[in-house]
Amino acid sequence: MIICYLGLGSNLGDRQKNIRLALQGVGSLKKTKLVRISGIYETDPCNCPPGSPRFLNLTAKVKTNLSARALMGELSGIETDLGRKDKRRNSPRPIDLDILFYGNKRISSPRLKIPHPRLKERDFVLKPLKEIAPALIKSLAKEVKVISDIDLTRKYAAKVKSGGKTIGFVPTMGYLHSGHLSLIRQAKKDCDICLVSIFVNPIQFGPREDYKKYPRDLEVDSILAKSAGGDCIFYPQAKDMYDLGYSTYVNVEKITDYLCGASRLGHFRGVATVVAKLFNIIRPDIAYFGQKDFQQALVIEKMVKDLNMPLKIKVMPIVRDSDGLALSSRNVYLSPREKSDALVLFRSLQKAKEMILRGERKAGKIIAAMRNEISRKKSARIDYIIIAHAQTLEPLEYVKKKALIALAVYFGKTRLIDNIVVG
Ligand code: PAF
Repeated sequence: MIICYLGLGSNLGDRQKNIRLALQGVGSLKKTKLVRISGIYETDPCNCPPGSPRFLNLTAKVKTNLSARALMGELSGIETDLGRKDKRRNSPRPIDLDILFYGNKRISSPRLKIPHPRLKERDFVLKPLKEIAPALIKSLAKEVKVISDIDLTRKYAAKVKSGGKTIGFVPTMGYLHSGHLSLIRQAKKDCDICLVSIFVNPIQFGPREDYKKYPRDLEVDSILAKSAGGDCIFYPQAKDMYDLGYSTYVNVEKITDYLCGASRLGHFRGVATVVAKLFNIIRPDIAYFGQKDFQQALVIEKMVKDLNMPLKIKVMPIVRDSDGLALSSRNVYLSPREKSDALVLFRSLQKAKEMILRGERKAGKIIAAMRNEISRKKSARIDYIIIAHAQTLEPLEYVKKKALIALAVYFGKTRLIDNIVVG
């Protein structure tokens, strides 16, 4: 029998029930045995029309004596039985069944492509697949160039540059989401080579913060990074970045006195230090940061300017899920209840923007309205809500010209940040 892996997804009707019925259908196929299923992952619709509902996804391992085409035919029959009428690729659907792998076979016909051509771009396929086929994910991850050694990375980057090529650099702490992938895509668009670093930097976490439990998954990250255009991953070890007796730090003053700098003492010293080290190792032409960490991007821009570092910083827009929640690796910590409460963040930012558009200028009044809306959520605990000058980050009493509205709020134990710039 051939071992196959299937992807199942549902975003219409009773999604749990559709998945249950589809699994029953797969289990009762002739010459086929359902061996294992993964947990269920809820994800945003990918490339679907705006307003499409969220998907429930899982993967299944089956053994079959059917040919790949016959199996696909049977799966298509299950889709039809469960009410899927519109078979176009990105249409909302009660059930979507794909063959991800069919043994080691490669098929590339107009109607059937195996392995599934978009599987490496999708964390909602890779993560459940890793649960039931860890060796398979390991072998996909092996195709990606990952360098841990600092000197080898320096040599790799120097060689790229001596060949006249440009380097776009995306520093991350891993557990990549679509926000990171948008930075990688942009880097690959702008530059010849895209280098991504994955390093959970211990010195930017406070003693009571989540350094130890910060989510990590190098294998899935490498596959996602490569599929978005990453050519090489730099994955240093903490002991090499900060060896015994390490004692040099970069401190960007003033703008770190506010917002996250005030509530996470030492955080930006850790960020600026590690980013300066990464820049020194890689010497990129352009480095990419997300606007969700507005203050971080400003700190890096200031450091680059003040220390005459020879590179350009590009800040890319916040990527949000379809409900408006800004993507963050920390979102995985949220319980379903906390996640639904956290949607209030973007709503309150929108509300602030509307108040300003209607003519309100008093920062205190706007902040009070936001505070009022957020505190109604049971799991929310506000760290700060600030309206600040978008360059100096000094708190504003009156909204004039360009202003940053930024907030940090705990939902349970998870601290989320978000912001918008108005004016
Ligand atoms: O934004 C992050 O993920 C981190 O702060 C960074 C920039 C990679 C430095 O560790």
